[in-house]
Amino acid sequence: MSYELILTDVRGDGPLKAGVITLNRPKQLNALNDALMDELGAALKSFDADDGIGCVVITGSEKAFAAGADIAAMASWSYMDVYKSDYITRNWETLKSVRKPVIAAVAGYALGGGCELAMMCDFIIAADNAKFGQPEIKLGIIPGAGGTQRLPRAVSKAKAMDLVLTARMMDAAEAERAGLVSRVVPADKLLDEAYAAAESICGYSLPSLLAAKECVNRAFEAPLNEGMLFERRAFHALFATEDQKEGMDAFVAKRKPAFKQQ
Ligand code: HXC
Repeated sequence: MSYELILTDVRGDGPLKAGVITLNRPKQLNALNDALMDELGAALKSFDADDGIGCVVITGSEKAFAAGADIAAMASWSYMDVYKSDYITRNWETLKSVRKPVIAAVAGYALGGGCELAMMCDFIIAADNAKFGQPEIKLGIIPGAGGTQRLPRAVSKAKAMDLVLTARMMDAAEAERAGLVSRVVPADKLLDEAYAAAESICGYSLPSLLAAKECVNRAFEAPLNEGMLFERRAFHALFATEDQKEGMDAFVAKRKPAFKQQ
């Protein structure tokens, strides 16, 4: 499938490869319009359905991961436009339905919907020039794709309130201290780091990756006891896989595992 507002690529040498999606509206700092979000959703679904893909990396440009939803496109919309068509938010939940791990590799601005998009990924690797923020308040609106919900869970209520109410930006170092990003790397090493993380992930057994992602996400949806039970069931279930035998046999035999992905 060909896309106009994103680029797609496949990287890696192993049986499982990484799907890479680059947001590509550089003149608008990757402002997220409906067409871009449609393409992003289609690419994500296609990688998720592809047996040869083990994880996905989403990135932008050096100047902007994404500067938010497209303000010019939204400016004239009425309440009925957005409510009836579910504009803007319509495409945003696709990312959450992806079962394989998704890494956000963020350089430059990740603002508004851009920050929300990054937070929907499983983890964020940030370039040292990254800037995160929820500046929607400046436009007379509020975040609409998780900024008021995922940000407090990621960085605490105090910092989320600070960002959402003042519209100030948080640099990469502050974002790492606050727990929003998993690591900060020099901007010119961002993609290398993200691809290396993707390559490690692609070296593991896909059934265990899917289960691990489901379980960690449960930690945010369920009470502790329910989450523990969910984890235990998934843990036990993995003993039904050939890959559990292979992984443990390989460790005991001091060789590299050759996962069968089942
Ligand atoms: C549309 C945008 C845009 C956006 C930048 N541009 N952000 N267009 N929507 N979100 C366009 C500018 O209009 C400009 O186009 C070009 O990109 C370059 O931007 P500049 O402002 O000239 O660049 P700079 O001075 O470097 O400032 C960068 C910036 C600033 C700080 C990121 O662009 C900015 O504040 N952008 C808006 C950030 C924001 O408010 N995001 C939240 C959006 S609401 P021209 O044609 O003039 O060159 C949102 C809701 C989410 O995200 C809801 C999800 C469901």
